[in-house]
Amino acid sequence: MARVLITRRLPGAALDRLGARHHLLIWHGEGPPPPEQLRARAAEAQGLLCTLDDRVDRALLDAAPELRVISNYAVGTDNVDLEACAERGIPVGRTPDVLTDATADLTMALLLSAARRLPEARQAVLYGGWRSWEPAGWLGMELRDAKLLVVGGGRIGTAVAERAHAFGMHVRVAGRGDPLPFERADVVSLHCPLTEETRGLVDSAVLARMQPHALLVNTARGGLVDTEALTDALERGSIGGAALDVTDPEPLPADHPLLRQPGALVVPHIGSATRTARARMTEIAVDNLMAGLARAPLPHAAA
Ligand code: GLV
Ligand code: GLV
Repeated sequence: MARVLITRRLPGAALDRLGARHHLLIWHGEGPPPPEQLRARAAEAQGLLCTLDDRVDRALLDAAPELRVISNYAVGTDNVDLEACAERGIPVGRTPDVLTDATADLTMALLLSAARRLPEARQAVLYGGWRSWEPAGWLGMELRDAKLLVVGGGRIGTAVAERAHAFGMHVRVAGRGDPLPFERADVVSLHCPLTEETRGLVDSAVLARMQPHALLVNTARGGLVDTEALTDALERGSIGGAALDVTDPEPLPADHPLLRQPGALVVPHIGSATRTARARMTEIAVDNLMAGLARAPLPHAAA
């Protein structure tokens, strides 16, 4: 029996399977454990099952000398210092594939909402702005024949491209190293991992290249976009709108000026939040963890 620290309550039944074999210590606080609590609780753990809100850095690894495996409950692993884990021979697992459809669906929901100005339209209904049918009111973007630039040619980007094709969009998927023709896109959607190379990818220079009606959609990682530059671009109307599932920082403070922009739609990092995807993520996270404890190769290891 190994000791496993789990930093959040996870949906689905797979934790029962883990609990039948190992001793589980589950953090029941509201939100993720603060770093000092995480370090203290990890001290005697052989397995760590954590989320994208937990920073797995050298300080944590030093505080947890018995760790044999880290299972990240996410497809992204930018919260984990992979190099430090590799130096210590600790494998890192992640949960790809099972959240691809959920995340691609949310991307389309955000794209459609921004294109048809649903947040503004809903505000009007709630607060008395809907008085009559307006021939020239609430005009948005039609998806058929609109140009979509998908940044990142992985599973999620590919699944978004597939959906966008069904809406009649002209889709260009740009993989690593491909040119990024921001100036031609009506919609730019981000689907690449956050790395040193991609941090701040959408900065003021990129935003300046986008068309004034263009929409930015981000369901990947907040750090891909320079938040201040985006706020400024929306304030000045140099792009048409932004629909974000992820922000930097996360969450954004409630008084952040980005949230006051009528063209901004922000939701709380819910890309994988379907019952199906989250239960499957728990299954995979448990599979990875059990494999690591048994010193077997992880079924879904981080690259
Ligand atoms: C969510 O953002 C994930 O990486 O799974
Ligand atoms: C990245 O891992 C993706 O699924 O697009």
